[in-house]
Amino acid sequence: MKKLLIALMICAVAVPGIRAQNASEKDDKPTTELGKSMDDLSAAYKKLRRQVKDASHNESSLALLKSIRTAAEHAATLTPALAEDQPANKREAFVAAFHKKMHEFIANLEPLEAALKSNNNTEAAAIVAKLGDMQKKGHKEFKKPD
Ligand code: HEM
Repeated sequence: MKKLLIALMICAVAVPGIRAQNASEKDDKPTTELGKSMDDLSAAYKKLRRQVKDASHNESSLALLKSIRTAAEHAATLTPALAEDQPANKREAFVAAFHKKMHEFIANLEPLEAALKSNNNTEAAAIVAKLGDMQKKGHKEFKKPD
């Protein structure tokens, strides 16, 4: 009986820990090459969103913009995992539509760079918000549900 109690106590402590570890492994999965590029893009985007209104950070904002560009340009050469789920006769058009949207995303980076360089932080913040909208729409259309 005592042994059973001890075994139960060990389980009570260890099992939630194992579950938490599995959950974080699942959450952190950089699943695909596109997923990795998106993770890079996301890290830089989140920092930029936090500081974009502050002109004293514009030099660092321009560096973040560069990281976003590199990641987005790489993403624009890749294929979303959701393409596999498309009917064969629609797959090519699906991938082409994804590439087009990524290029539209990238096209916003030039005016964003100009706004930061001219200390027009209101305009820069508006473009960063627009990129966030593009993320939402892009994920709805091209990303596999989590
Ligand atoms: C501010 C802009 C964006 C941010 C911060 C962002 C962030 C992310 C993050 C964090 C992931 C998960 C990566 C992982 O698997 O670990 C992801 C995945 C993905 N994103 Fe974005 N994203 C942005 C814009 C876009 C846009 C504009 C599109 C489409 C035109 C897009 C399409 C996708 C797709 C398809 C995936 C799934 C990856 C795959 O299929 O392999 N994202 N994104």
